Amino acid sequence: MSSFARAHTNLALVKYWGKADEDLRLPAAPSLSLTLDAFYTETRVSCARKDKFILDGKEAQGPEADRVFSYLRRLFSFFSLPLSPLLVESQNFVPKSAGFASSASAFCALAAAFSQEFELNLTRSELSIASRLGSGSACRSVYGGFCEWKEGGMEESFAIPIDEHPSMGIAVLYLSFGSEKKGISSTEGMRRSKSSPFFPVWRQECRKACREAKEAIAEADFEKLGEVAEKNACQMHALTLSSGFSYLSSSSFRALSFAQSLRERGTACYWSCDAGKNAALLCRERDLAQVKEEALSALGPKVLLFASGPGPGVEAEREV
Ligand code: PMV
Repeated sequence: MSSFARAHTNLALVKYWGKADEDLRLPAAPSLSLTLDAFYTETRVSCARKDKFILDGKEAQGPEADRVFSYLRRLFSFFSLPLSPLLVESQNFVPKSAGFASSASAFCALAAAFSQEFELNLTRSELSIASRLGSGSACRSVYGGFCEWKEGGMEESFAIPIDEHPSMGIAVLYLSFGSEKKGISSTEGMRRSKSSPFFPVWRQECRKACREAKEAIAEADFEKLGEVAEKNACQMHALTLSSGFSYLSSSSFRALSFAQSLRERGTACYWSCDAGKNAALLCRERDLAQVKEEALSALGPKVLLFASGPGPGVEAEREV
């Protein structure tokens, strides 16, 4: 017997950047994301004689396996289950060579496969909380389309769906400028950012951005949503800079100017960037071919492009 789950990655349009509680992974402000169809993780969990983690076909040891098993121990204890050894097999369908993070889809799929294996019958809010304990952004991968991750205490901070089937014809184009591992992990970056004098302002801005993004989604106003997302991403990177570090490179800035120049020429295109130099562009699906072509000529042949539309929420099943 084993249990299988598939979870998709998500792109934060309003970023989670700063924890109110590190151990419980409670956010200092709400965030809002779009789940993507092109990138996902598939995970199978089964009871075994000893713990083993197979990642992309190879046995993983060291920090990757430690993080998975310490998270699983946490789930056993959270759900008051007796510890038992597990075989975890995961396959990431995320362009790793392009430097993309997969912790959101990875921890959401793991939480879903685990809860299926132990027949926990979790609600989606409970599954979102369980995913959050592995990686904050994973709590948003429970839902398809747009969702918001609420602030709050241990049992209150989970994702809630906004529009699981966005009708805005939205597309995301990831721009990869290289695969080097980031020097400062997101946990460490968030820790440092809390010391910025602008941190209280950042929290307020995220609350406001979530309200505005939800209005834009309700009105199916793509330009308004793109503006909110780009401004929030710029504010996150301004916050890191005000704490003495930055993830951005000259390529990330070139991508920002590229999005702005496309807009000036009449094509709605907006920039976003997470804890790394690779950027993401938001545009309408119907403009994707044009945005791709212009990005290649503006940003040079070395940039790698990966497009995606909105994706579904996590799915899990028990296998015999
Ligand atoms: O879930 P974590 O701890 O990997 O943090 C993710 C942080 C960002 O990707 C930068 C923003 C977000 O909301 O996904």
